Amino acid sequence: MTDWVPAGIDVNQPSAARVYDYFLGGTHHLPVDRELAGHIAAMTPNIGETMRSNRVFLRRAVRYLAGQGIRQFLDIGSGIPTAGNVHEIVQEVAPDASVVYVDIDPVAVEHSRAILAGVDRTGVICADARDVDQVLGESEKLGLIDFDEPVAVLFAGVLHFIPDADGPAGLVAALRDAVTTGSYLLISHATADGQPPEVIEAQKLSGRTGTEIVLRTGPQITAYFDGFDLVDPGLVFIPQWRPGPGDAVDEHPERVGAYAGVGIKR
Ligand SMILES: C[S@@+](CC[C@H](N)C(=O)[O-])C[C@H]1O[C@@H](n2cnc3c(N)ncnc32)[C@H](O)[C@@H]1O
Repeated sequence: MTDWVPAGIDVNQPSAARVYDYFLGGTHHLPVDRELAGHIAAMTPNIGETMRSNRVFLRRAVRYLAGQGIRQFLDIGSGIPTAGNVHEIVQEVAPDASVVYVDIDPVAVEHSRAILAGVDRTGVICADARDVDQVLGESEKLGLIDFDEPVAVLFAGVLHFIPDADGPAGLVAALRDAVTTGSYLLISHATADGQPPEVIEAQKLSGRTGTEIVLRTGPQITAYFDGFDLVDPGLVFIPQWRPGPGDAVDEHPERVGAYAGVGIKR
């Protein structure tokens, strides 16, 4: 057993955060996570590329937001820290910016706390994104987010873990209502649009982590931006979101199986 595993977690149950960490080349995963990752990779060989591409998008978009003057970031479903975390990117541009990380996974939360110890203007909350009052309340208690000033709310690779029955649109709307005009919403989200049947089948394996990924269509994901104006280029397949000079976009960006978009609150 590795020394980073928090007491009380079920080591026989794979975790979405740790499977993602495995695909990103991180070090916080257990045999049960690697086994599930192996099954998913066998059915969708480009899955690692999808996850890396999501991370590249997140970094690019966060740099864009810091460039737009945003100094407060609420990163919901932030995951296990890896290279190029949100606070590292943002504080390169604006050392005075604040970042609050929120995750439901104890490994993600404990590891975030460990790497953020002593890093100014950062905080971590262990919460379920569905409990918006807890997320908002604890963010305020940390003294890092002033909701009278613009905030970037980040939902990178997380809303697809929230089933329709739990009201993902409602929770995004509650956060929209809590932030001021000029705040931003960032979403990346898995989709079945343009995907072959075996990829859709592979997504069902995510159910073994306790939460099956919900694949949503472009229009369903666009609807989460109600009250926001999507910035250029709108909601697109992840590699198409403002690629930098060194970012290759091949002729099949839909193969990543996920959309990305950023909107500004009206
Ligand atoms: C695929 S990872 C994405 C990590 C990071 N946002 C990124 O894009 O690189 C999804 C994360 O969402 C977290 N998550 C899933 N459901 C959640 C929920 N209801 N509330 C908070 N976090 C959740 C998982 O624990 C995991 O760390």
